[in-house]
Amino acid sequence: MTRRALVTGGAGFIGSHVADLLISNGFETEIIDDLSTGRRANVPKAARLHEISINSGEAAQIVRDGKFDVLIHLAAQMDVRKSVADPVADATTNIVGTLNLLEAVKAGGNGTRVAFTSTGGAIYGDFNSPPNVESFPKDPESPYAISKLAVEYYLSYYGRLHGLEHVSLRFGNVYGPRQDPHGEAGVVAIFCSRILDRKPLTIFGDGLQTRDYVYVGDVARAVLLGVTNELPAAERVDARAFNVGTGLGTSVVKLAELLQQAFGTNAEIVFSPKRPGEQQESFLDVGKAQRVLGWKPEVSLQDGLERTLAWSAAQKDGAGRA
Ligand SMILES: NC(=O)c1ccc[n+]([C@@H]2O[C@H](COP(=O)([O-])OP(=O)(O)OC[C@H]3O[C@@H](n4cnc5c(N)ncnc54)[C@H](O)[C@@H]3O)[C@@H](O)[C@H]2O)c1
Repeated sequence: MTRRALVTGGAGFIGSHVADLLISNGFETEIIDDLSTGRRANVPKAARLHEISINSGEAAQIVRDGKFDVLIHLAAQMDVRKSVADPVADATTNIVGTLNLLEAVKAGGNGTRVAFTSTGGAIYGDFNSPPNVESFPKDPESPYAISKLAVEYYLSYYGRLHGLEHVSLRFGNVYGPRQDPHGEAGVVAIFCSRILDRKPLTIFGDGLQTRDYVYVGDVARAVLLGVTNELPAAERVDARAFNVGTGLGTSVVKLAELLQQAFGTNAEIVFSPKRPGEQQESFLDVGKAQRVLGWKPEVSLQDGLERTLAWSAAQKDGAGRA
């Protein structure tokens, strides 16, 4: 029987790759996206797009009546600085919007499994020494990260009390084709765009801060395994949470160097003051995803950066969806 998937945020960067992978794995796929940061051009042709907000009654009705096997929830307000400026707006989308969907899953009673896209960067905070393990204490430093962790707690609660099937995937810094270079996230996308425009690269702080850069294709695979695999019993909040990264911390300076090598350029690097609240070291232990989901990253940073640069260059030349 054909399996049915609903992807919120499927017109976005990661969501569109997830939708592509679901479709190629035989899922009949629908998308809810209000196109606030996503693009219609990212939506796969085989997917049906509902251009609505996750906060709407219409979205709740689609989730409740759609008989979906899986709901992959990526739609979010994901700008950390916006969340600091307006925590109410952040929570309205990221917490209240998610609850709108979870209540609808519960009301539908179809056993839909919910895969939630959380963050492995911001929830662990700076008190731990990376690599961060799922069970480490969490001290989120921004309303955005608090909203992600709050949803993980809600999922855990819905799992224990209402038997809702769920999994939380805590992504590192995801990069790859279709990432918007104009947003707050995505240093790789920003650097690619500036290298191609022959502009200087700006690094905040000393550039030695590390991040776990993970290729979007690997992330989409982790999501697919999260919705198709057997999962551990839904107990404490971390039981159904999986870090999705590479296990490697790469500094921003190193990242700039790798990209310049890949493109054969030598752009000027401009150092700006460190941004408040920015973590110094952040990378993930990914052993649990390997043990339980059978997932591990397959695309090396060098290879992923080359693919991303090639895509960015093609975009500048006016190529379409890739
Ligand atoms: N990019 C990363 O490095 C990263 C890291 C950790 C977690 N995440 C999470 O992954 C998810 C996807 O991120 P992305 O990088 O693809 O961002 P994105 O901005 O490309 O995708 C988000 C999508 O959600 C849609 N959206 C936003 N608010 C909506 C609403 N109220 N109703 C319906 N649609 C709405 C947007 O239009 C967009 O298409 C987010 O939940 C984000 O928090 C991303």
